[in-house]
Amino acid sequence: AAMRTGVARIDVDLDEYVDRLRASLGPGREVMRWMTARARKRPARVVLPEGHNETIIRAAAQMVEEGVCQPVLLGRPERVREKAAMFGVDLRGVEIVYAAPLDEQRHAYADILFERRARKGLTRAEARWNLYKPIYYAASMVANGDADAVVAGVEANYPEILRPALQVIGVEPGVERVAGLHMVAFPNRELLFFADTTVNIEPDAETLARIALLSARFVRELGIQPRIGMISFSNFGSARHPESEKVAQAVRILHREDPDLEVDGEMQVDTAVGRRKLDSIYPFSQLTAAANVLVFPGLSAANSAYKLLDSLGRAEVIGPVLLGMARPVHILQRGSSQQDVLNLATVASVDAQARRDHS
Ligand code: ACO
Repeated sequence: AAMRTGVARIDVDLDEYVDRLRASLGPGREVMRWMTARARKRPARVVLPEGHNETIIRAAAQMVEEGVCQPVLLGRPERVREKAAMFGVDLRGVEIVYAAPLDEQRHAYADILFERRARKGLTRAEARWNLYKPIYYAASMVANGDADAVVAGVEANYPEILRPALQVIGVEPGVERVAGLHMVAFPNRELLFFADTTVNIEPDAETLARIALLSARFVRELGIQPRIGMISFSNFGSARHPESEKVAQAVRILHREDPDLEVDGEMQVDTAVGRRKLDSIYPFSQLTAAANVLVFPGLSAANSAYKLLDSLGRAEVIGPVLLGMARPVHILQRGSSQQDVLNLATVASVDAQARRDHS
């Protein structure tokens, strides 16, 4: 619409303006837009075991609105509805599953868990007890094909969700250790991927190589060509120490196992993200441009790096994406925002779809 401001007549196409504004907000928005479009094609059933939590209830309604998945809340239907009404949230399209104390399904899931874990010290009574915890129930739904993905963790410590998920669902064939990845977006640069930001505390060389391969697969799935920097406090042997040697060893494993993968190191993080040093001081590096995937030498470094950029660097951070589970499980950070939950449910829905497409 035209507007008289007394200064000039302003004609704007509002939709186009908003689109351009969004695009200028950078690659974080871009990748979420791409994921949202993909998720909408065949929205997966995503089970949210923390069905009584306000952020989860609000996010579930938004998932329906955005069409990114079919959310399933675990909880007592009356209580969930009561809370939703209190928050003014419309639950149309949100499924609520209540596992009653004497539920047949619960015992069936407990028996399956017992069979999986009987030789790892789990008794049938403990399996039944575990199934009273919503995360075990939700993971069992996904393990048994009664839902497509789990998203949980707003009210828990990360390992409190990861352990049950590993026990009930486990790793995908060929994978030994799962790992966490964050997407880190700045307005004027290519999207970055950080790993392992959430799981392996002190990975050895072999594990670091596996983390790089899992990350590369995820990045390729987004249609992005991975260029991996294997991070250390040292540049190509500039400091010699078992810690940096471990990273160099991981690079040798990767060069041997996947010669086509663009990966190098060990290198310091500024070497990895800035092209200049690579060109001038380390021209032998295999990276054709600055790295877009950073594999950190340990959990302290990776976790602190993304959190620092999130808190002080004004990066848009999406994740954590859990790589290498047998079925889609994505674990939220305690106290995640509604936007974080929506983002991760969208990732979970796309993850479920990608697996169906590949099978
Ligand atoms: N991938 C797959 N399975 C694993 C992994 C892994 N990375 N690590 C351990 N396991 C399995 C083991 O194989 C074992 O399986 P089993 O019971 O079937 O034999 C089981 O988990 C327990 O193994 P442990 O070696 O005893 O491992 P532990 O219980 O010490 O811990 C855990 C595993 C929970 C992953 C641990 O490494 C951990 O706490 N990591 C840190 C998580 C964390 O606190 N992150 C904080 C950041 S999260 C955030 O900021 C969002």
